[in-house]
Amino acid sequence: VPLQQHNSFGIVARAQHLARISGEADVAALLADAQWRDAPKFVLGGGSNIVLTGDVKPLVLKVEIKGLRLVDETPRAWIIEAGAGEVWHDTVRWTLEQGFPGLENLALIPGTVGGSPVQNIGAYGVELQDRFESLDAIDLQTGRVFTLDAAQCAFGYRDSVFKHAASGGNDFGLAGRALITRVRFRLPRPWKPVLGYLDLERKMDETGNFQPEAIEVFDWICAIRRAKLPDWRVLGNAGSFFKNPTVTPEQCADIIARDPKIVHYPMADGSIKLAAGWLIDACGWKGKSVGNAGVYERQALVLVNRGGSANPVTGGEVMTLAKAIQTSVYERFGIRLEPEPVVV
Ligand code: EPU
Repeated sequence: VPLQQHNSFGIVARAQHLARISGEADVAALLADAQWRDAPKFVLGGGSNIVLTGDVKPLVLKVEIKGLRLVDETPRAWIIEAGAGEVWHDTVRWTLEQGFPGLENLALIPGTVGGSPVQNIGAYGVELQDRFESLDAIDLQTGRVFTLDAAQCAFGYRDSVFKHAASGGNDFGLAGRALITRVRFRLPRPWKPVLGYLDLERKMDETGNFQPEAIEVFDWICAIRRAKLPDWRVLGNAGSFFKNPTVTPEQCADIIARDPKIVHYPMADGSIKLAAGWLIDACGWKGKSVGNAGVYERQALVLVNRGGSANPVTGGEVMTLAKAIQTSVYERFGIRLEPEPVVV
């Protein structure tokens, strides 16, 4: 089964077998089948946060579970449930159309609802964990259906229990082990906009609108993203390719002494977050390419497929470019950038 249409880089790779999952029963049926019960499995959502470096040997489970509904409404929150196969951006739009604001800062993030907790998606001052209630999943080894709350998901910056393997004496990871079926969001009432991000402050200044409605914030976020992030349907990519690194105040002071313009934000825990895009940009990578893998002109943190669908980038080219960037950022700043997408 070709996977080129199933990953936002548009990398050519094949799955030996792919099963479409539209409900719990589809997983139960697979686990009841001796051919598939013990086979390694790979859960695929929108494919917007993966780099395929070869054919995928495990059985690919393409999650297509649908459904959007309000499950509870209290004076303090709306609780919305979405099927893991729903498209993320359409889900955000639906909640706003239905009068349930709160996800607008996360507009236009590629991928599906099921992927959103895996990497704790975040943008413009809001992370999924700030709007998360609970999720349902199926244990792919036992077939057991279970529910996790936010604490059990162990959310971190672009991180969760779903990104960690259970191996190495650590029995808590669920990578490769769980298939998320539904996610519930908690949208606090009364709604309050999150407008602290510089790009949003600029929009308020430009428009003179300092008390925007949720739908206006949504429109601003869409405009901001369209201005600096490539649409993967036009130019394949997997969003930010590296996490923003954190350093100690001492390390940061060292770097500032050499590069006074470095973009840095103090964190609540006393550490300093650096803008990886700025570091990569400072090393001169913006607009550069290795084979068909390129560094996006308007945001150095985004690696893109310059070959389109006719002559697409390979996972190997993407990783070669990523390693070259890591090396030059390390040599110049002494900082090791960590890839953000899952390398398959
Ligand atoms: N910058 C440069 N040169 C560049 C890119 C960025 O100097 O080529 C500077 C910018 O001028 C800005 C700073 O770096 O001062 C930060 O850039 P930006 O606001 O674009 O945000 P980011 O830190 O690069 C993060 C997330 C994005 C998210 C935005 C907005 C990560 C890894 N990335 O990017 O998330 O949309 O903030 O909140 O945390 C993703 O995870 O895939 C993603 C796109």
